[in-house]
Amino acid sequence: MDKLVIHGGKKLSGEVTVSGSKNASLPIFCATILASGVHEISNVPFLRDINTTIKVLESLGARVEGNGNVVRIDATDVNNVEATYDLVKTMRASVLVLGPLLARHGRARVSLPGGCAIGARPIDQHLKGLKALGADIHLAHGYVEAKAKRLKGARVNFDMPTVGGTEHLMMAAALAKGETVLENAAREPEILDLATMLNQMGAKIDGAGTDTIRITGVKELSPATYRVMPDRIEAGTFMCAAAITGGDIKIRNMQLEHLDALVFKLQDAGVEITNKDGIVRVKGPKRPKAMNIKTRPYPGFPTDMQAQFMALMCVADGASVISENIFENRFMHVSELLRFGADITIEGNTATVKGVKKLSGAPVMATDLRASASLILAGLAADNTTEVSRIYHLDRGYESIEKKLAALGADIQRVKE
Ligand code: EPZ
Repeated sequence: MDKLVIHGGKKLSGEVTVSGSKNASLPIFCATILASGVHEISNVPFLRDINTTIKVLESLGARVEGNGNVVRIDATDVNNVEATYDLVKTMRASVLVLGPLLARHGRARVSLPGGCAIGARPIDQHLKGLKALGADIHLAHGYVEAKAKRLKGARVNFDMPTVGGTEHLMMAAALAKGETVLENAAREPEILDLATMLNQMGAKIDGAGTDTIRITGVKELSPATYRVMPDRIEAGTFMCAAAITGGDIKIRNMQLEHLDALVFKLQDAGVEITNKDGIVRVKGPKRPKAMNIKTRPYPGFPTDMQAQFMALMCVADGASVISENIFENRFMHVSELLRFGADITIEGNTATVKGVKKLSGAPVMATDLRASASLILAGLAADNTTEVSRIYHLDRGYESIEKKLAALGADIQRVKE
């Protein structure tokens, strides 16, 4: 297993380019099942989760060329309708193949994804929506078994804004008979990216990116040629890296408007953020001010940036209160941040962070994808040496992050453990 070794205290400078979005790519790959033929998806990040999704599509009969940047997916022979536990368990988002298989073949057998480190991650809203569209769903031996001669449009009202649930139902409804209305839909930019691709394939989807999405089903869709949006969470992570090191960096290929909640908090904390000719410049302060955050569905503060922002608050001037309102177990980075000398106390879903002047490097262990990023940020700011182990978590969602940080002047390298 690899680990990252970081000698902290370097101010970051220079330019970095953001890769394509993991959380847009994953549903987009699943959507290729909806149309026979060769799809060409570009700006795809080289990530473990992308490789896993490709394995799932190949197990269903797709032929895939490439695993990053440009990926060609021939979905002509997707005739196997079963996605097995050994694949789905490694990446929950693969459950999103269920709706497309159901829409294309009228049946599907997909393993229940199970939970992960940050929470139980149920899919009850996904199944509620598919049932509303007329699917006959039952659970047996850890699998969802679904049948539907042809899905029929319906009104679906989600109990909470769910990103995966919204994406899942948009894909299934695209080939349903009649109109589907999704109410209390999630509004994340990745949903709009998926809808834009589906419409390019011939779907009729309105309102993606708002809380009410209308889908008029069509008989068939044609293959896509589509460029994935930039990864806003990777971009936000680099913004926090510049902030925590007091650095001055330029970020290419990001859409600043996708991160308003984070940007306003960083600016209030004293971080200078400017956007000129599509290049975002981020200048960290000598010491950030303490800021309170509450994670919320988009456009609220993104839960996927909570751990990274907490690392920044560990060295802020003052105390900050961070509440995690999306997932029930997303504070696992706290015990590792304490090893750097951070001062954090947890009460239920709220963490109080009392900023310290300096963190000190330590050996720490990654527990989940965004926790890994927060430990790297702390290591960049800490004095002495930090070693981050179990970075296979990191490789799921960040493309060569240590190379990108090293190119910004960080003293960071990947070594065999
Ligand atoms: C997506 O997960 C992202 N993953 C997550 O990013 C992100 O944290 C999350 O959205 C929230 O923004 C991908 O896009 C692949 P949800 P998803 O359904 O779709 C509850 C990362 O780090 N819920 O919006 O699984 C659920 O328990 C990952 O890149 C139900 O109760 O998230 C949670 O509390 C981590 N029943 C809340 O809704 C359901 O049927 C939001 O979950 C579905 C969800």
